[in-house]
Amino acid sequence: MLGSTYVRVIRIPRTRVVDNVRRGAHPCNNLADISDADAPDSGATAIARTVIMNVPVSTTRLDRSGIRSSVLVDDHHDDIITAEGLVKRYRSGKTDMLALDGLDLTVPAGTVLGLLGPNGAGKTTTVRILATLLRPDAGRAIVAGLDVVRDAQELRSVIGLAGQYAAVDENLTGRENLYLFGRLYQLSKSDSRRRADELLEQFSLADAADRVVKTYSGGMRRRLDLASAMTGRPRLLFLDEPTTGLDPRSRLDLWDAIRNRVLDGTTILLTTQYLEEADALAHSIAVVDHGRIIARGTADELKAQIGGERIEVVVRRRHDILAAVDVLTRNGDGDHAIDSHTRKITVAARGGAARLAQVLRDLDEVGIAIDDIGLRRPTLDDVFLTLTGHAAEKPADSDDEEVERRSA
Ligand SMILES: Nc1ncnc2c1ncn2[C@@H]1O[C@H](COP(=O)(O)OP(=O)(O)OP(=O)(O)O)[C@@H](O)[C@H]1O
Ligand SMILES: [Mg+2]
Repeated sequence: MLGSTYVRVIRIPRTRVVDNVRRGAHPCNNLADISDADAPDSGATAIARTVIMNVPVSTTRLDRSGIRSSVLVDDHHDDIITAEGLVKRYRSGKTDMLALDGLDLTVPAGTVLGLLGPNGAGKTTTVRILATLLRPDAGRAIVAGLDVVRDAQELRSVIGLAGQYAAVDENLTGRENLYLFGRLYQLSKSDSRRRADELLEQFSLADAADRVVKTYSGGMRRRLDLASAMTGRPRLLFLDEPTTGLDPRSRLDLWDAIRNRVLDGTTILLTTQYLEEADALAHSIAVVDHGRIIARGTADELKAQIGGERIEVVVRRRHDILAAVDVLTRNGDGDHAIDSHTRKITVAARGGAARLAQVLRDLDEVGIAIDDIGLRRPTLDDVFLTLTGHAAEKPADSDDEEVERRSA
């Protein structure tokens, strides 16, 4: 009991929901499942039937009878996305581009997966296939229990997509845009208006709601785009580079908006080129390069996988770089990276502090002046460099550092 409100929890196994959907029934059509789990109650059942499609974990108040029911889809240990051997080839004229080359991917429900990769790695292609906008040439993908090719139509009602480029109408106001999406999602006029109000509030756009989008800043447009993707209360949200081109403040705001969706139980697959973004938001990261997943794990696991700390040296004179590289590779445990622009050389080194002292002595011995030296934990940039053989692409607006890599 919670005050005067009776709280009921209905637990529906994810596998049962999937079975129901595969049989062509409503996800929780098998009412016996619900009544078996709890005392039969048509009010609770009705709630289950209405909310389950969109919200995996939801609490709804039933005003008339004073019963508050929680519907819990027991899916937190199941994968909401399973893709196997996805292949996609783009043909234009005589050129043939292999964008996906046997990509495998799983995403547990209720988590955020960061799909990280350089330009042209195949991130958008993956998202478009999983969101039913593109057919794979080979392989298959099951999303929320539905096949992305065979059940595309049905799948569209449970997913939301914010593409790489904001898809909002410049000539409509923020409110009108969201109303339009509500109607497209087949909400009634009044529900569409209500949903628009909710989303404007959630995404801090209420003050600008009645201005045409033309007058919005880039950050406001991205937020509106994300709000549009949420109109149908999707259980699964695809965000293709959600913060590219945003200033740091707008990026943090958007991160908050994304985190709030996760608290609501939404599963999110986001692509990004910002390594710190994957680090900050994702439970798990999949690194994609040349159309394949080349590494998978948490940020910490990926960093551990490439081993040890990094010794970083900034030499005073550019012409000392090669001699310093010599010293560092002698003391290091693997590949090194040179950033000739900032005269910085980095090398992996296990047993950090002792190695650092040795490097310092060796540099001194050969007369190389340094501006800075230090020991640091590996970043995802290091992960990238080690796994792909090239640095992660820098966003267009960042410093254009030249980073090259040589084998030790
Ligand atoms: N419609 C298309 N026609 C021909 N080639 C395409 C098409 N779309 C993508 N490609 C190619 O397929 C490859 C993968 O593209 P994709 O857009 O999936 O990469 P991405 O990882 O999203 O890159 P970015 O970080 O630049 O967005 C690239 O080499 C790209 O040039
Ligand atoms: Mg892309």
